[in-house]
Amino acid sequence: MSEIYDLIIHNINVASMAEQDNYGIHEDAAICIKNGLIKKIIPNIKQHSGELEAEKAIDGNGYWVTPGLIDCHTHLVYAGDRAKEFEMRLQGISYEEIARSGGGINSTVKATRNASKDELFDLAAKRLSYLIEEGVTTLEIKSGYGLDLVNEKKMLEVARELDEFSPIEISKTFLGAHAVPPEFKNNPDEYINLVCDSMMPELHQSGLIDCVDVFCENIAFSIEQTEKVFNKARQLELPVKMHAEQLSDLGGSTLAATRDAWSVDHLEYLSENSINALKSSNTVATLLPGAFYFLNETVRPPIDLLRKNNIPIAIASDSNPGSSPCLSLLLILNMATTLFKLTPFEALKGVTINAARALRRDDKVGSIEVEKQADLVLWDIESLAELSYKMGGNPCKMVIKNGEVILSKIASPSSTTVEEQPDGNQ
Ligand code: NIG
Ligand code: FE
Repeated sequence: MSEIYDLIIHNINVASMAEQDNYGIHEDAAICIKNGLIKKIIPNIKQHSGELEAEKAIDGNGYWVTPGLIDCHTHLVYAGDRAKEFEMRLQGISYEEIARSGGGINSTVKATRNASKDELFDLAAKRLSYLIEEGVTTLEIKSGYGLDLVNEKKMLEVARELDEFSPIEISKTFLGAHAVPPEFKNNPDEYINLVCDSMMPELHQSGLIDCVDVFCENIAFSIEQTEKVFNKARQLELPVKMHAEQLSDLGGSTLAATRDAWSVDHLEYLSENSINALKSSNTVATLLPGAFYFLNETVRPPIDLLRKNNIPIAIASDSNPGSSPCLSLLLILNMATTLFKLTPFEALKGVTINAARALRRDDKVGSIEVEKQADLVLWDIESLAELSYKMGGNPCKMVIKNGEVILSKIASPSSTTVEEQPDGNQ
């Protein structure tokens, strides 16, 4: 007797993202799902035969289907905004100058400390809904606007609650070393001690940390301070990642690569030396074109060298109030292609399988493969390049997470059996 699936989606063109150098296309295909997992992918379904049985079938209307999108770098939990600083920057004051004069990250720290957990949850949930509407099914969220135990905990608890109560999954990153808080203004090393000796162990004990991040930059933390945080993470058996080489080259990516970091992120000033270090690691290079665009940067990450050395490239929104107030991963695809000259294929890879690698979840998500989670997006597009080509206008028609429809703009699924040719196997 044939297996009865929970859900079959048919009449679709699939970009599985399961192959190294191409989209892994299955035309006129069907995807069979059971217990939240992909159980079968049937290309050219009209040429196959036999009957497929399922509790539910969805006619995909000829739409393209990709893996659920993954935003592997966000600061989605925060209060307040930085519109005033935006206006200051338009008048010629730089991001660095604003940060050094006590604004920047620390102005968001003030607003976030003053917000209740419920307020932060509501703000973040609203932002998250925009991302989901464009097909995001896995998301990373960092702390880093609390900068003391109570407020970093509050932020990470909001991320955990979003993981529990939203339909999508969230990777929680502890970014205590994001900026020096005002009370440690004259003693950043003491703040790093607090991060290492009290904040990280306590938050870890509460199960709030999946990964530890550091903003390694001359307006934030030095290589030595970063190393201290990484050493503590290693002691606690926590993985690490890094904001690296955004505004200058401190060589953070070399350190990160030697520590098997999940990813190094930004990378405008990445050196050839660091590229060599990345080459012999599993660390993903995550590019953040939204921050490059919004801060009016001129130095681009060394894309050709990353390519030449086969370093996996992810792209992400970096959604945050200061350097990338962006709630559209599709717009980030457009920026990755227009500003960084990624191909539309590389850009899509950057928000699917390579973003999954950057969160070390590529065994479960990031591509459409048998036994992976059934995280799928249906798109009303003519070609896959359209995902990068368009600026605005949302072609997302349906989002499926773990086999459940979490968003639909097409007629409700019918409960039926998909008829195939009557002879032969399935
Ligand atoms: O990824 N670079 C450091 N952190 C953020 C900016 C945070 C902020 O300005 O609030 C980033 O760009
Ligand atoms: Fe960031």
